[in-house]
Order: sequence, then C-alpha cells, then structure tokens
Amino acid sequence: MKKYDNVFIFDHPLIKHKISILRDKKTGMKEFRELIEEITTMMTFESMRDVELVPVRVETPLEVTTQYRVPDESVAIVPILRAGLGMVNGVHKVFPTARVGHIGMYRDEETLQPQEYYCKLPEGIEKKTVFLVDPMLATGGSACDALDALKKRGCKKIKFMAIIGAPEGVSKVAEAHPDVPVYVSTLDRGLNENGYILPGLGDAGDRLYGTK
Ligand code: PRP
Ligand code: URA
Repeated sequence: MKKYDNVFIFDHPLIKHKISILRDKKTGMKEFRELIEEITTMMTFESMRDVELVPVRVETPLEVTTQYRVPDESVAIVPILRAGLGMVNGVHKVFPTARVGHIGMYRDEETLQPQEYYCKLPEGIEKKTVFLVDPMLATGGSACDALDALKKRGCKKIKFMAIIGAPEGVSKVAEAHPDVPVYVSTLDRGLNENGYILPGLGDAGDRLYGTK
C-alpha cells in the first residue's frame, strides 16, 4: 500500500496479542465485545496525542498549582451502526462525557455499496473533535459516506478509527479525506470476492451481537 501522511497503523505488540484472540472463530460473543472495547481504549489514547488542553487551577494538599485538562464537552463519538457501537464504550472510558451520534449504514451484499438508513447527531457537533468509529474498514465505502455526512453537518475536526483495515479501504478513505487522520490498529492482506477482509475476523456486527 502507498504511504499516506494521514494514515496511522499501530502494530503495537499488546494490540497484536488481543487481535489474535479477536480473529479466532472460537472466541465467543462476550470476549469479542470486551476485546473490541479494550483495543478501542488503547487506540483512543494513542490517537489523542494532539488533544488540546486548558489550564486549570488545582489545590493539592500542599499548594496551588496550574494543571491541564481536556475541556468538557469537546469530544463526540459517532459509531457507524451496527458494529461501530461496539467501540463506543472504549472511547467513553477515556472521554466519559462525550456525546454520541449515530450513523446507520449497511452494505448491499451484491454491490457492496453502503446504504444509509439512520443519522442522528448531537447539537453542536461541528465544534467538537469527532471520533468516527467502525471496527472494519473493508472497501472504505461506509467510512467515506459517513465522513461526507459529518462534513455536511459542518464537522471540521474528525478522526476515523477502525480496528482492522484492508489496504483497499485505507487508501480510499485516505485519498478521499486527506484532512482526516485514519487510525487502524492492524492492516490486513486484502478483500475476498465478497468484500470480506482477509484474514480478518468475519462479520464484526454478527460476532458482537450474536446474529447471522
Ligand atoms: C460492516 C462494517 C462496516 C462496513 C465496512 O458493516 O461494520 O460498517 O461493513 O465495509 P466497507 O468498508 O466495504 O463499507 P455491515 O454493512 O456489515 O453492517 P453491520 O455493522 O450492521 O453488520
Ligand atoms: N464487514 C465486516 O464485518 N467484516 C469484513 O470483513 C468486512 C466488512
């Protein structure tokens, strides 16, 4: 895959460990959900190295000091339904007051084109740092359409986070949205003829929610 300035592949050894369990078809729904959440929390820390802090006055038991905090209400989370929902708690662990918007999309099984069926975003989202989250970045169609929807709503500072990416999807998003940092914990080999990521983990929504 070409190198893109806005693409960050983590390849952290602890994430690799968790991904290996996530991929295993023997891993059950509960553990799968927990792993998605844990990996998301790790990714959130790493992807917020540029977070803006504001000075606050803090009184310790010994003296008054100036410290730095993330301003309240500065972050929003937008999962792409359904599978993106599995990542929300992982971001909430770091930003518990973040409001949550929802964009519903499913891929047409034949054309692989995303179909939007729901969109509800919190008021004032355009002033926040928005985490768009979806565990799977396959062809990139869903992520590109969701990013278009957020930009139409006026969002300017968006970060896209996916747990597993295929080179096809990563390139598509990186090129269509060069202003959006794309964080991917693991880059896989490619897509099969049905648009599934290889080696991948199967259908993330089905494994999170026990559907088929
Ligand atoms: C999956 C996944 C992404 C999309 C990725 O969702 O969660 O949203 O496919 O594929 P793309 O990059 O080729 O667009 P799916 O459409 O299966 O819906 P679901 O989450 O409701 O299962
Ligand atoms: N969506 C999934 O859930 N898995 C894939 O491999 C591709 C798209």
